[in-house]
Amino acid sequence: MNSQIRFLMCAPEHYDVDYVINPWMEGNIHKSSQDRAKEQWQNLYQILKSNAIVDLVKPEKGWPDMVFTANAGLVLGDNVVLSRFLHKERQGEEPYFKKWFEEKGYSVYELPKDLPFEGAGDALLDREGRWLWAGYGFRSELDSHPYLAKWLDIEVLSLRLIDERFYHLDTCFCPLANGYLLYYPGAFDSYSNRLIEMRVAPEKRIAIAEADAVNFACNTVNIDHIVVMNKASEILKARLGEAGFLVLETPLTEFLKAGGAAKCLTLRVTEPVQEDLHANIYVESRIIRLEGHLLDSGLINRALDLIIDKGGSFQVLNFDLGEQRQSTSSAEVRISAPHHDVMEEILSLLIDLGAVNLPEDERDAKLEPVILHGVAPDDFYVSTIYPTEVRINGEWIKVQNQRMDGAIAISQTSDGLLARCKVLRDLEVGERVVVDTQGIRTIRKPESREKRNTEEFSFMSAGVSSERRVELIVEQVAWELRKIRDAGGRVVVTAGPVVIHTGGGEHLSRLIREGYVQALLGGNAIAVHDMEQSMLGTSLGVDMKRGVSVRGGHRHHLKVINTVRRYGSIAKAVEAGVVKSGVMYECVKNNIPFSLAGSIRDDGPLPDTQMDLIKAQAEYAELIRGAEMILMFSSMLHSIGVGNMTPAGVKMVCVDINPAVVTKLSDRGSIESTGVVTDVGLFLSLLIQQLDKLTSPYRVKATK
Ligand code: ARG
Repeated sequence: MNSQIRFLMCAPEHYDVDYVINPWMEGNIHKSSQDRAKEQWQNLYQILKSNAIVDLVKPEKGWPDMVFTANAGLVLGDNVVLSRFLHKERQGEEPYFKKWFEEKGYSVYELPKDLPFEGAGDALLDREGRWLWAGYGFRSELDSHPYLAKWLDIEVLSLRLIDERFYHLDTCFCPLANGYLLYYPGAFDSYSNRLIEMRVAPEKRIAIAEADAVNFACNTVNIDHIVVMNKASEILKARLGEAGFLVLETPLTEFLKAGGAAKCLTLRVTEPVQEDLHANIYVESRIIRLEGHLLDSGLINRALDLIIDKGGSFQVLNFDLGEQRQSTSSAEVRISAPHHDVMEEILSLLIDLGAVNLPEDERDAKLEPVILHGVAPDDFYVSTIYPTEVRINGEWIKVQNQRMDGAIAISQTSDGLLARCKVLRDLEVGERVVVDTQGIRTIRKPESREKRNTEEFSFMSAGVSSERRVELIVEQVAWELRKIRDAGGRVVVTAGPVVIHTGGGEHLSRLIREGYVQALLGGNAIAVHDMEQSMLGTSLGVDMKRGVSVRGGHRHHLKVINTVRRYGSIAKAVEAGVVKSGVMYECVKNNIPFSLAGSIRDDGPLPDTQMDLIKAQAEYAELIRGAEMILMFSSMLHSIGVGNMTPAGVKMVCVDINPAVVTKLSDRGSIESTGVVTDVGLFLSLLIQQLDKLTSPYRVKATK
């Protein structure tokens, strides 16, 4: 009997399952037996009474869950933080518990209204008193944790619960004597699991299986070497035995129907204070502002979901709903995260969505030097396709060479500071690189309401289109192509060999010949099969007129490669009259630059194929510069590569029969990119027809 330890319990006089506020209660309304509940509670009470002291609080009619005294509050020394229940079904218990604590002489701390915290159900002291584990995710709000640290003067470690069945920390987590921890890892997110592993040595961690977890094996009352629980498997009993614990099982099935067991039915009201330990809290908060068509573009949902998904929490402080159809709305959101690292991750994703820190919170970007050529400092900010600015010495500087997945390098030039996106390998010693997320903002064009609503005209609004809308998109692409060409603008095409296999070669050739294309990006294959078609009439050995394989056709492409190699380059083969038509022919004849990036599977390769991929990336980047529109035809790798190099604002149309490729591209989230799932040969032929209609409306030329 340990007379140092006291528990608070509440007899099940008025206990019942009256409502549903957790998954255990579902289907159990009024299904628990009063008599059995009383008997089970008595058994637990007797066990605890013979091992410690048990106080009782008077049960109140109309508050059936009051038996779960773990949720009365959190005690440490003479202080108690009173619970603020999330659900109104339990809020009425608060005054009764408050009265009990006050009568016993505790100093009672009360959280602000609307800041839920459910007491020792969600906050468990390390049994050595070294720190407090605090849960959030379902019942208690992350923002309550800093109050616990302050009022109880203790280090608080926040753990995020992610499995609804384990909605309170004490349903899946139980610190035991001698530094042991009984817990169910599946109930926590990966960040929390890492935190647990950092604090508790492997030999002290008793991780249980789901089968034990759903019997509430973690909902255990620990008195010295005794652990009292509803039920445990033989394996778990053995494991606890090895660690020096004696398991006392006492069935609490009637309380399981309400989502509680041994530990929930008790509150330890004697928790000694460790005088030499003090408050420490890792929870951080920041305020950001979001602007745009927040509701109808779904931006606000995306932002708030992202905060929760990544383990944070939020409070919308202001929401200014634009009143006119065309006006934008704005929201100020307070974000909390359990740790600096989590906050940084959330903020960098929010910055991608266009969020900005509030002016009061504006600080210069953090810079760190490059120490090793081609290597960024840890925590470097990863750039996106959106126009970005960084704040240095109080001024916002626009970042040059915007691209995705680069680092932002700052260098001093004679004209002042220069901020540029650079790929890692190009970082030079002496440059400084932006790290973390402070002092960075991206500028996003508001997604317009019309484009979202009238699906038909959602070219230029990110999305994937299926067959049904191909013709509409073709009309829009044709219109844009003509406009750009007539204004002397720049259109770049990336294309894979499928363009040739599907009979699109002649159409692409025409686009080039008629001045709609200013650069061509591809690989070895498109050039090979294009010239194979021109020289031998096949593409990958298939006769392009009859659609059947020709005998020995699989060797055709190698013959072509060999011939071109003999001439030294594609241009020379064209000049020599060996290649008389096709995509490559038109490029050479019309002085359209092209870049062919090599790959591990290339045969030959053609003399023009750039097998040094770093050089190939540079060639691509050079040809993309200044493009207003990029057409991507059936080439996953080249298209995605190009997507990464291209800043937002460039219209991109990705055509592929494979929806995965198209989705991948439109995942850039740029409002100017669109995807079309269709046969590329068909798309090109429709495009040519449409261009013909636009240029000579009364005479639809037959394509040759
Ligand atoms: N029905 C109660 C609720 O959902 C059960 C509380 C269990 N208590 C606990 N500390 N886990 O609030």
